[in-house]
Amino acid sequence: MGHVWLIGMMGSGKSTVGRLVADRLGRPFYDIDDVVEQNGRASIAEIFGLEGEIGFRERERRAVADVATRPAGVVATGGGIVLDPDNVATMRSSGKTVLLAVDPEVLSRRIGDSEDRPLLTDGKEERLHTIAMERDERYRSSADAVVDATGSIDAVVTDVEAACRES
Ligand code: S3P
Repeated sequence: MGHVWLIGMMGSGKSTVGRLVADRLGRPFYDIDDVVEQNGRASIAEIFGLEGEIGFRERERRAVADVATRPAGVVATGGGIVLDPDNVATMRSSGKTVLLAVDPEVLSRRIGDSEDRPLLTDGKEERLHTIAMERDERYRSSADAVVDATGSIDAVVTDVEAACRES
């Protein structure tokens, strides 16, 4: 069994669900945003501010390549991971990708007013809709399994676990 890579929009619950699924499966948990922050010794917002999105994506790609070589676990990715075909190839060759699918309205409510998402600084709701539409095809074509992540955390964790066991 390789990694389980959780993909999906900001606010879809990748980190919360990933941690719980890893616990249930008795496997390590990794979070790509955390790896980027640790390696950069700066927050995601600071990295965006200093290096722009291009610099952040480069760091993100290196973090994916790094985590891919670690012992098999559950990985929460950043929402933009699927923008780079290299990331998708790395994820799929080192395990399985599971998409957490959630409507933009729900995402917007979940994200609330948190200020740590640089892509949502102006007009959160509208930006979320636009980004979700722009990425929809990429998420779907990058996913080995799709889990509806609108319901309770418990139900989502159970569905993701089932998708993992099927692999
Ligand atoms: C991003 C999602 C964020 C983070 C960065 C960019 C995106 O991660 O990687 O702000 O492009 O969707 P989360 O999906 O964990 O919020």
